Amino acid sequence: MKDAAPTTVYLADYTPFGWRIEDVHLTFRLAPHATRVLARIHFAPCQLAPQQEFFLHGEELRLIGAKIDGQEVTPEVTDKGLTCAVPAGRFLWEAEVEIDPANNTALEGLYMSGGMYCTQCEAEGFRKITFYPDRPDVMATFTVRIESAMPVLLSNGNPGASGDGFAEWHDPWPKPAYLFALVAGDLRNHPDSFTTKSGHKVDLNIWVRPGDEGKCAFGMQALKASMTWDEDVYGREYDLDVFNIVAVDDFNMGAMENKGLNIFNSSCVLASPETSTDDNFERIEAIIAHEYFHNWTGNRITCRDWFQLCLKEGLTVYRDSQFTSDMRGPEVKRISDVIDLRARQFPEDQGPLSHPVRPESFQEINNFYTATVYEKGAEVIGMLKRLVGDDDYARALDLYFDRHDGDAATIEDWLKVFEDVTGRDLSQFKRWYSQSGTPRLSVSEAWDNGTFTLTFEQHTPPTPGQADKLPQVLPIAVGLLNPNGDEVVPTRVLEMTEAKQSFDFTGLSARPVASILREFSAPVVLERDADPQQRAFLLAHDTDAFNRWEAGHILARDCLLAMIRDGATPDTAWLDGLETVLRDSTLDPDFRQMLVALPSQSELAQALHEQGSTPDPDAIYDAVMTLRLFMAERWADLLPKLAEEARVTAPYQPDAEQTGKRALGNMVLGLLTHTDGGAAAQAQFDSADNMTLQLAALANLIRADKAKAALAAFYDQWKDDRLVMDKWFGLQVGAADPGKAVEVAKALTAHEKFDWTNPNRFRAVFGGLIGNHAGFHRKDGAGYALLADWLIKLDDKNPQTTARMCSAFQTWTRYDSGRQTHAKAALERIMAKPNLSRDVNEMVSRILA
Ligand code: ARG
Ligand code: ZN
Repeated sequence: MKDAAPTTVYLADYTPFGWRIEDVHLTFRLAPHATRVLARIHFAPCQLAPQQEFFLHGEELRLIGAKIDGQEVTPEVTDKGLTCAVPAGRFLWEAEVEIDPANNTALEGLYMSGGMYCTQCEAEGFRKITFYPDRPDVMATFTVRIESAMPVLLSNGNPGASGDGFAEWHDPWPKPAYLFALVAGDLRNHPDSFTTKSGHKVDLNIWVRPGDEGKCAFGMQALKASMTWDEDVYGREYDLDVFNIVAVDDFNMGAMENKGLNIFNSSCVLASPETSTDDNFERIEAIIAHEYFHNWTGNRITCRDWFQLCLKEGLTVYRDSQFTSDMRGPEVKRISDVIDLRARQFPEDQGPLSHPVRPESFQEINNFYTATVYEKGAEVIGMLKRLVGDDDYARALDLYFDRHDGDAATIEDWLKVFEDVTGRDLSQFKRWYSQSGTPRLSVSEAWDNGTFTLTFEQHTPPTPGQADKLPQVLPIAVGLLNPNGDEVVPTRVLEMTEAKQSFDFTGLSARPVASILREFSAPVVLERDADPQQRAFLLAHDTDAFNRWEAGHILARDCLLAMIRDGATPDTAWLDGLETVLRDSTLDPDFRQMLVALPSQSELAQALHEQGSTPDPDAIYDAVMTLRLFMAERWADLLPKLAEEARVTAPYQPDAEQTGKRALGNMVLGLLTHTDGGAAAQAQFDSADNMTLQLAALANLIRADKAKAALAAFYDQWKDDRLVMDKWFGLQVGAADPGKAVEVAKALTAHEKFDWTNPNRFRAVFGGLIGNHAGFHRKDGAGYALLADWLIKLDDKNPQTTARMCSAFQTWTRYDSGRQTHAKAALERIMAKPNLSRDVNEMVSRILA
């Protein structure tokens, strides 16, 4: 079944399919172990495509029978699909297959979750449902009939006839197979409706398992806000009579934008104040928006092939981040997006898994649903918008929707609309799609008689398969401040295209302080030898919120690096500057707490590695703890004041204002716990009436080693709530003392509620372990070994989730030789597993290369 020698697919080999599909009719006779799928498909030859054999993808299907124009045929079937002699002209293909959804643990194709049937077809799951040209450039209208005793039967498009034991659906919009969906189960709905700006009334439903009805209201509100926003900002209206969302407990990813029938991991849609944190609410709002926005960027305009994945994902992430900015404020959103980019995309781009935003080859496409394709893909669009300006961006998007509606498009098509609207030549800009790696941008300053000159140099280190890099187009947003703190030159975008380039600012009366790469205007590593005074000045005065935060962030990082490298004591000048900002109650509480949140331990490891030293995870952990204790002691009088400011008295709302306050309060609690032995955390745990406060309290009790009773109480309170139990599992490992994290994880895998076949539960424990930097990178290799044991075990059941978690090892060569030996042994053990999946084989081979 599994390939011995995996095959590689290349972008350069693209050829169109030799037939068009006029329509698809599917009938599903659902049964857990023997579902029958009957397909009736009209094919017509496509004159433009090269001559080819008729091939349909198909995996894990039992062919019952096939007919062409009513005559039985006997196709040649392999484990990849079938070939068959077909007539020269138009013909009707009919096939009946049997599949086994109850044994489908890969959660790809048609499978069962908690007694319900559901599907996940992106990227290549439809071929596990019926024989079909399972490629995104083959688009067709679908009519679906579902036969089942389940009370709720759903598919894409608009509802047709329904009755006892059956329901029919028709989707009038041609779509690729990856957008197909089917759901059947005993579900309850949370109904609502939305009237589009042209007056079309749309029924909205969120479908959930009985008992979860009370967790739908927020998701529904987010959906309606998304619909309004896409009309207002992009002029995009919804195009069907119904929009259904279904929550599923077993799901490999966050959610899926199937036409008219979005399917969500229940963790990404169900929410209530008692069971969800503020972060959960914000994430749910963003994911609902993301999947909804795909209706235009992804569904109406889809991708020609999977190499173009960023066409829909980069753009849709960009759109959902604009939405969140509008809902919750642009400053905090930008800072958190950059934190996330640096935490997830930078290590990928700078390690063995580095690949271009538009990859040029793959073995398993599921391995390329990455932070590079999604988040760097979105950064590239942000740069494009900054370069052409808001008006031309809007005109280009209108042209894109106009010109390509109904198409399976490419990055070339996307860039062409910008070229046509602006008259620009984007050929150099296009390198952002083909060159992998994070550019490093260094800057030097000169001052001469009223003229201030910034000289930039860019350089991208080699990445796998790409030794030499060409200069990229970098939009560098710069503003200048006077020595008194006033802004003398407001933000201006410098367009850098050369390897080395200077920009002059003339007519200045005094040497300014430059604020460079405002709003993080390009996804690069900025190398700037600013002295600490200059950074402190920017922390105090910069008008750009991102760079103000960045100045504080770098001071914190440098302070920690000095502590780690030379055992220095914390830099009090920086802490005093920070204190001034913290005391400024005119500033957003969320922004203030982000300033105090120290760089993550893995970011510090990366920084040490870049500076040529070998990071020691235990020393990094100790330095962070020492600094936090130092802050707590130094700010003993300030912290209670901040806690007071952070108090929310109004009824719980997951809005930006309350969220920011609770985040500040929890930051204070985290510091207080270093000095009060957990007293404040216990008090917060006892009085908490929402999950944001309860979970933060529990985390701090774990860190203070005072959590025994609280963990038991929490378990008692929430043992029947699957999503809250995921938090209970994850937090115990994530917040554990690094010396104990592996043992805690091990003990939890023996817990009766540890269901390792459920991706959320598996990720809770092992994501918690991976997130515990010094715990996972334990000197004796126990962290690596435990993860490898479980990845080896999971691979047979669920290759996709297993492969995704292999990326925990992507930084293994950063560490000392002892740790490297252990990591390598763990990786080699995974490689040696019999019948290793194509997914994991590709990931581990790249990591070891
Ligand atoms: N298109 C989905 C989204 O971004 C993600 C689907 C991921 N599927 C996968 N097989 N990797 O919203
Ligand atoms: Zn997406």
